[in-house]
Amino acid sequence: MTAVVTRSYPRSSQVDAVETPKIAPLAPVVGAAECAPLADGTTVRYANFDYAASAPALTAVADAVADALSTYASVHRGAGHLSQVTTRRYEECRETVRRFVRGRADDTVVFTRNTTDAINLAAHVTPGDVVVLDIEHHANLLPWIERKDKWTRIVEVTPTIDETLAAVERELASKPAALLAVTGASNVTGEVLPISRLASVAHRHGARILVDAAQLVAHRPVSLVSHGIDYLVFSGHKLYAPFGAGVLVGRADWLDAAQPYLAGGGATADVDVDSGCASVSWHTGAARHEAGSPNVLGAVAIAAACDAISELGHEWIGAHEAYLCAQLDAGLAEIEGVSPLRVFDDGLERVGIAGFTVDGFTPREVAEYLSDHHGIGVRDGKFCAHPLLDRLGHPDGAVRASFGLGSSSDDVERLVSALRHLCDHRPSDGSVRPSTATPDTRKAHL
Ligand SMILES: Cc1ncc(COP(=O)(O)O)c(C=O)c1O
Repeated sequence: MTAVVTRSYPRSSQVDAVETPKIAPLAPVVGAAECAPLADGTTVRYANFDYAASAPALTAVADAVADALSTYASVHRGAGHLSQVTTRRYEECRETVRRFVRGRADDTVVFTRNTTDAINLAAHVTPGDVVVLDIEHHANLLPWIERKDKWTRIVEVTPTIDETLAAVERELASKPAALLAVTGASNVTGEVLPISRLASVAHRHGARILVDAAQLVAHRPVSLVSHGIDYLVFSGHKLYAPFGAGVLVGRADWLDAAQPYLAGGGATADVDVDSGCASVSWHTGAARHEAGSPNVLGAVAIAAACDAISELGHEWIGAHEAYLCAQLDAGLAEIEGVSPLRVFDDGLERVGIAGFTVDGFTPREVAEYLSDHHGIGVRDGKFCAHPLLDRLGHPDGAVRASFGLGSSSDDVERLVSALRHLCDHRPSDGSVRPSTATPDTRKAHL
C-alpha cells in the first residue's frame, strides 16, 4: 500500500517505476473531475496531459475572475464608480505581474493577447537585427523573420549547452545585433535554458535579451533583475489563467520610441484634424501599445495566477513537477520502443513536459489510442516547432505529455500503463492500428 502525500517529496533520483510513493495534485484546478467518454461506451476521469498547450484554470483564478465580474465595467476614462474600480483593478494587475517576474521599477508592462502577440509587439519595436536559436516555437521565429528591413540570424543549437552558448557568442561577435530572443523552456522537450548565461553573452556584445517564457513562468521563478532579462513575454492560458491575455514586460525606451503597435483610441494623448490633415500625439508607456478596450478579465486572471503561484511557492511547484517528471521518465524508460526527445545531452533540468515517440505508431495513433481507450489527453504533431522536430529527426512529429499543478502520480501511472499496454499489444501483422484496452486494464485505470 502506498499513501497519498501532498507535500513531501522523495529526491527525484529515488524515483523508480516500480515503487513510488504517490503524490496528489498540488493545487485545485477547475474541471479536475471531468470524465471522458471511451470507445467502449464507458467513461473515465479525464487525465489531462496537455498543460503545455493550455493549462486548466486554478480554482483561485476562476474565483478571482468571478469576483471581478461583479464589479466589471468600462476601463479607463470613466468617472463612474465601477469604471474607477475596474480601472484600478486593471492597473494593479500590471504591478502584480511586475512583482511576479521581479521587473524593474521603470519597466513597462503591456497586456497583449498572448505570447505570440507579445513577440509580434517586440518585433515591431526592436530597432535592429535579432539572433534566435533554431529550437524556437514558431511564435519566437516567424515574427522576427517577417520583419521587412531587418535581419533575423538563426543559430543552430549543438548537443551541448556550452557549445551552443559559444555559437551564440560567435554570432553576436560577428556582427552587432539588437536582440537575442530565446525560449526559457522548450515546448517540445521541457528543457530549461540557462537564461542568466545567455543574458550575459548577449549583454557582452551589446545586445538585449528577450525570453519567451510561455513554458517557463508557470514552473520556475523568473526574475528580470537577477537573470538580466530585458524583455519577458508569456501567456495567461499556460499559467492557469485561461482567459485570453498575455504580457510583455521590459525596458521602456524601445517601446516608447516605436510607432504604436495598434493605432486607435486609448493610445493617443491628442488627435487634431485641421484642413484634412491629422496630427496625433501618442501616449508613452503601456497605453501606447494597448489601443482599444483591453481584456480586463484576462489581466485579472493573470494577476490572480501570479499571486496563487507565489503563494504556493516555487520550491513546492518545482519539487512536484520534478517528482512527476522523474516518475514519468522512469516509467517510459521501461517501455520498449518509447524514445524520449532531448535537444541537449547535458541533462538540463526540465519543466513538466515529456516529448517522445513510440515505435510502430504514428503520434496521432498514440494520441487517439490514449484518448479513446484510456481517457488521457496528450498532444501530438510538431508543436509549432517544425525546425526543432526536423532537427530531432522526427519530421512527422511526436507525442507530448505535459503536466502541472493539477497532476498526480495516479495520472502518471495511468499514462505509463496505457503506453505499456499499447506497446505490449503491437499488432503482429505489420499494421499499426493500436489494439484496444482490455476490460481489466481499463478497470485498473479507474
Ligand atoms: C515556447 C512557446 N512560445 C510561444 C507560444 C505561443 O503561445 P500563445 O499561443 O499563447 O501565443 C507557445 C505555445 O505553445 C510556446 O510553447
